[in-house]
Parts: sequence; C-alpha cells; structure tokens
Amino acid sequence: MSQEHIIITDVSPRDGLQNQKVLIDTASKLALMQKLIDAGVRRIEATSFVSPKAVPQMADAGDIMAGLRPMQHACPDLTVPVLVPNLKGLERAVAAGAKEIAVVLSATEEMNRKNINMGLEQAASVSEDTLRAALAAGIGARAYVAVAWECPFEGPTDLSTVVALSRRMAAAGAQEVIIADTIGAASPAQVRDRCKVLMNEVTGTELAVHFHDTRGMGVANAWAALEVGIRRFDASAGGIGGCPFAPGASGNVATEDLVLMAEQSGFSTGIDLAGLLQAVAYAESVLGRPLGGHSAAWLRRKFGVAPGAAAAMPA
Ligand code: COA
Ligand code: ZN
Repeated sequence: MSQEHIIITDVSPRDGLQNQKVLIDTASKLALMQKLIDAGVRRIEATSFVSPKAVPQMADAGDIMAGLRPMQHACPDLTVPVLVPNLKGLERAVAAGAKEIAVVLSATEEMNRKNINMGLEQAASVSEDTLRAALAAGIGARAYVAVAWECPFEGPTDLSTVVALSRRMAAAGAQEVIIADTIGAASPAQVRDRCKVLMNEVTGTELAVHFHDTRGMGVANAWAALEVGIRRFDASAGGIGGCPFAPGASGNVATEDLVLMAEQSGFSTGIDLAGLLQAVAYAESVLGRPLGGHSAAWLRRKFGVAPGAAAAMPA
C-alpha cells in the first residue's frame, strides 16, 4: 500500500537562525542546508530579504542564494523559498535568483506594526502587490498569515480576519497560504477547528501550517491539522527558531518530531531521521548549545548519535 506523502519545509536557516544572538557566518548556514539536503529535505526556507537593520542575521541573503546555486545543481528537486516583506525584498530576491518567495502578513494590527512597521491594511495591500509582482516575475509565491490563533499584543485572533486575509492572499495569487501559530499558543482542538473552517472557506490555494512548540503542543497541533486534511508543514531541525518581534515565541516544531510522528502514523516524508540528526548535531556545533525536539534523545539512542560528540563535529 502506498503511503500518503506530506510536504515539509524546513525553516531552520530562516526562522531558526533569525533570532540567534551570535551572527552565524554564511558558510555555516550553507553547510547546515547541505546536511538537510543530505537528509532528504527538499524544501528549505533559506533566508529572508528583509531590512538588515531589522534582522542583522539575514544580511547575507544574497550570498546565501549564490552559495546555494551549486547545491541546487547537484539536487535539482530542491526548492529554496525565501521570505520577503515588501517589493524591495522581492526585487532583491529576484536579483539574487530566488524562484519562490513568501510574504509575511500578520492577522493583527499591532503584530504587523512590530514586525514590518505597517498597519494591517497596509501590510495586506503591500503583500498583495508583492505576490502579484512575484507572479509577474515568473516565480512562485506564498503568503504567511502570522499570529493566526493568538497575538502576543492583542490576544486571541479573530478567525474571520484570518479567513479574510487568507482569501485575499489567495486571490492575489498565493499558491500556498501558511497559517502560522507564531508564538506557539494554539491547542490541538483550536487547530482542528480553525483548519477545518479554513479548508472550507479558503479555496484556490494550498494551505500549510507553521507551528511553534512554546507549550510543547507543536506535534499534537500538527497531528490535528493532518487529521483534517492539511498536508504541508513548516518545521525546523532541532526545533530552533522564533520571531524576534513576537515576545515569548520559542522554537518551531522540530522537524525530527514531525517526521517521526508522521512516519509512525503512516505518512511518508522523504526525510531520513538519522541524517536529520546529523543536521541537528551540526547546528549544535554552530550555535554551541544543545538542540533537539522532544524525540531527539530517543532518536539519538536509536541511531547511535551521541549529542556531545555530535556537537563537536567540525564545520
Ligand atoms: N530589504 C533591505 N532593505 C530594505 C527592505 C528590504 N526588504 N525594505 C526596506 N529596506 C530599507 C530601505 O531601503 C531603507 O533604507 P535606508 O534607511 O538606507 O534608506 C530602510 O530599509 C527603511 O525603509 P522603510 O521602507 O521605511 O522600512 P521600515 O523601516 O519601515 O521597515 C521593513 C520595514 C519591512 C523593511 C522592516 O520592518 C523589516 O525588514 N522587517 C522584517 C521583519 C522580519 O524579518 N521578521 C521576522 C520574520 S516574520
Ligand atoms: Zn515562525
């Protein structure tokens, strides 16, 4: 019996690294991506073309895209989407050779102001313009709808706003709308309920989900989304991540936790867990601290990967 496949975008080089205090050099970021590719990951959110003043960690976005080129030649089915907040970001991304972008819209007024210095209506209209321009430039376009369950500034988010913004992004050409629990506040029941409504009411696009694991519910939330038919997920190797402009946000749901849960539940991911542990070990060596999702200790025993030795792996 053939297994149903789920699509995982590993966002560790972007969401995972954007909030790290120590500046990570470009070569280390590229080496992490190579390890993800070696593990079978075929969608990697590589970087963001945002203001380097806002997020210094992503100032090397152009160099990242240049460094990825030979890796893409060697692995033709690799896709490396990038995040852009506005037309200037899109222009930079296209010039750097990006083939897929994602705009970043939040479902509340204050989160948009803190994140991209725009009110909700302006953020929605800039996102629409950016999506249309991306399509006109012949590249793939997706849209995040962030704080889709709860906002750190405004509390629980209106479902009607999330639906309306998702529809607007779909109408402007987003091929995928990524419903994001930016601060990791959602519960599985809330995920099930919102995803069901969104699946019915947002048409003409694919829906993906993006969970953070702040309260330990990332995998349970992913399962709730799977159960109602979502097949596209963001995750980050080792669970690194978090938005610098959303107080209290911790790391993304760990890719290894998501892969283990999905495969143990009868879905295929194309990702090799032992290889993924090597990517996590490499990230540990770069960041100089232990990483890993809830399953990492068990997985390391199973595959015989020692965290200490792994954390000391050369670049
Ligand atoms: N990339 C690089 N530089 C950019 C840029 C982009 N996408 N967009 C604007 N800028 C530059 C402008 O050219 C200008 O430069 P200058 O000061 O040298 O003239 C400066 O940034 C200010 O431009 P402005 O349009 O007034 O932007 P802003 O200060 O209102 O900031 C954003 C708006 C969107 C650029 C900024 O808030 C941002 O980059 N946010 C990203 C947040 C993020 O990555 N969050 C985490 C992911 S969800
Ligand atoms: Zn995130």
